[in-house]
Formats: sequence, C-alpha cells, structure tokens
Amino acid sequence: MLILNKAAGVFSKPSRREIYEFLRSFNFRPGKVFLHKLVLGIETSCDDTAAAVVDETGNVLGEAIHSQTEVHLKTGGIVPPVAQQLHRENIQRIVQEALSTSKVSPSELSAIATTVKPGLALSLGVGLSFSLQLVDQLKKPFIPIHHMEAHALTIRLLNKVEFPFLVLLISGGHCLLALVRGVSDFLLLGKSLDIAPGDMLDKVARRLSLIKHPECSTMSGGKAIEHLAKQGNKLHFDFKPPMQRAKNCDFSFTGLQHVIDKIITQKEKEEGIQKGQILSSAAHIAAAVQHTTACHIAKRTHRAILFCKQRDLLSQSNAVLVVSGGVASNLYIRKALEIVTNATQCTLLCPPPRLCTDNGIMIAWNGIERLRAGLGILHNTEGIRYEPKCPLGVDISKEVGEAAIKVPRLKMKI
Ligand code: KG4
Ligand code: ZN
Repeated sequence: MLILNKAAGVFSKPSRREIYEFLRSFNFRPGKVFLHKLVLGIETSCDDTAAAVVDETGNVLGEAIHSQTEVHLKTGGIVPPVAQQLHRENIQRIVQEALSTSKVSPSELSAIATTVKPGLALSLGVGLSFSLQLVDQLKKPFIPIHHMEAHALTIRLLNKVEFPFLVLLISGGHCLLALVRGVSDFLLLGKSLDIAPGDMLDKVARRLSLIKHPECSTMSGGKAIEHLAKQGNKLHFDFKPPMQRAKNCDFSFTGLQHVIDKIITQKEKEEGIQKGQILSSAAHIAAAVQHTTACHIAKRTHRAILFCKQRDLLSQSNAVLVVSGGVASNLYIRKALEIVTNATQCTLLCPPPRLCTDNGIMIAWNGIERLRAGLGILHNTEGIRYEPKCPLGVDISKEVGEAAIKVPRLKMKI
C-alpha cells in the first residue's frame, strides 16, 4: 500500500494496568529453559498489525497478523486515522497470539524489536507506544527497527546468504535497489522517483475495473494483472519502458500509468463502453503493462549488478540478488530478473510470499541479527521517537547515475 506521510497525532497509550493484565494472562512455566536468544518482533508501520517470536537459529516459534486490506480496499486507499484505530484495536490480541502460540512467556524474551521507521506516523505510533509499555514492565532491551532493513535481511532467516548481496524491494509502497553490506550497512543504489510498481499496477487494475472481472474479483491489483496478462498479447500495445535515457538505477511508474490511462479512455470510446465496464482489450493491456514493468525493473537491476561488479562491491562470479515485496511474487517479473541474473552469473533468491509482504517475523529476525551483531540494542528508551520518513542506508544513487553504465540489451523472451 502507498505510504503516506502525515504529522504524528496524539494517541492514547495502553494503561499500565492494561499491560499488567496482559502480561498476567500468560502461563509461566518455570521448568522450561530456552537455550537460544528469543526476540518478539512487532510491526505496525502501514496496514498490517503483526507480531512474531523468533529464536537465534531462525525458528519461528509463533506469529500472528491482522491485515487491514479489506477495510482500505473499500476506501480506495489507506486512511491513516482508520489504520491507527485498527492497529489500536488489534495490537494486544496479535502480540498475545504470537506469544501464546510460541509457548514463550514474556519474561523469557531476550529483547523486543519494533518497527519505528519509515511508515505512517499514526500507525508507527501505535506499535511503538505499545512496545515501550511492554519494555518498561518487563525490563527488557528494546531494538528499534528500520522496516526496509528488515525486508532486506529476511532472506538470511532461510538461506545462508553472506554479505554483501544486492536487494530489490518491490511492493505497493516500496521500490528500491540497495547493496546490503552488513546488518546496518546499506548503500542505496536507486529508488522510485514517484510511485511504487505495486501501486501503479493497483491503479491500472482499478481503472480497468478488474474487481468486476469474474476471475479477478478477490485478487490484489497486481495479482489480477498477472492473471489476466496470461490471456493477452503483450505486443498488442507498445508501451515504452520509462526512463530509457537515464543511465541510473532509479525507477518511475507514474508516466506509464498515465499513458495506460489515456489508452483505456481511448479504447472505451472506440468500444462505446462506459467507464467501469470491462474492455475487450483488458487482457492485452494487462500483458503489455506487466511486460513493460518487468523490462523497466530488469534493466535497472541489471545496471545495479554491473555497477557493483565494476566497483568490486559484489563478487564477480558468486553474487546474490534478493528480490522481495508483494510484487516479487509476480512470476513474469521474476522470469525477467532470472534472465538478468543468468546473464550476469548471479544467483536469484526470493523469500516465500508470506515473508515477502509485511510481517512480524522479519522484525523479530532483524532483532536477532542486531542482538548477534551487538548493534542498536537500547537499555534506556528515553527520547525514542518514530520517524515516518527515513532513507535506507547511504544514498549513492547520484554516483551510480554519474557512472552512466550502458546495459547490454537482453532478449526478454518470457
Ligand atoms: O508487500 P505488500 O503486501 O504490501 C505493501 O506494499 O506494503 O505488496 C502489495 C502489493 C500490491 O500493490 C499488490 O498489487 C502487489 O503487491 N502484488 C502483485 C502481485 N501480488 C501482489 N503485483 C504483481 N504481481 C503479483 N502477483
Ligand atoms: Zn513493507
């Protein structure tokens, strides 16, 4: 979902008594000893209230999530005060569920890790405020988490991926390419200058009224486009990939969205149908937009790999590209990226879909990574604030653009 930035509002913290009652609700089992470090992760940066308990070896002991998607679909986007209210209504239950399924009592936790940046101010506030109360009562260390860093490091919970590796985050709210050099060492190579690809696909799907399509009515916009594209001809429309002349690793999707918008309006006139009815050429449009999106993402990623190799930032023959985010579940886009990784002797890795999208596991895992590295563990939370806007790592996208690397043409035969 699109991340909006609004000034933080005033929100009510759970009372000490509520937190006390909450903690008392757990059965303490004095005989049980956990040998590994255990972290409770809490995520409320956007429209998912999520929590998980993960141990040092990457075992997920318990997890719970409450998605607000259905509510926000009705309003056509996230309304921050509504998201805030839903987080407030669900956070205690979700944390409780994650803890009780993990059979870990709060006193056995090594630390509590919570997303504090970036995200919706009102949403971040709920998770932070709840976590600080817990930390205060339990006298546990607190680990503030950067949401994008957590996405980027999730792969290490499942695969033995050594630093450095390249990460591409593509979802409804994220679009960036970064080099991950360590637990808190990131180089930002490029990002979207406007909207994220998932947001663009959602807008195109909405404009095509795919929610009324019998095969797509329950799918997200991006998934509906992928589904319909299989029935269409991608060459029926010739949409030019964005930013072809800019030899950097930045992305752009609004131009493409406007071009498609115009085509749809034109086709509606030609077919004599009203806005809101489904065009006969909807599948061709879906196929073409998916293809153009895949080519754009593949080209920027290809340039990022070449840049990193040229600067010796990535291994010449053993480099890893991790792709995550909701859009990473698109198999057509994955195939385009596979063409790039095959051509550059890289390995392509994607976390499974439930770990690609927002979840509590990635936050808890980031807590474990930080505990192991001894980075950013707070024993005093005084002055801790959430930050709605916060870039990922050191931004070297200008340097990437100045290198102006020409990307060899690859046949995108998908
Ligand atoms: O990571 P995510 O669940 O949420 C945030 O963006 O925070 O990603 C959701 C986005 C939506 O824009 C959705 O349309 C897109 O991912 N998406 C897809 C597919 N499945 C979900 N886009 C393309 N192809 C898919 N199969
Ligand atoms: Zn996310």
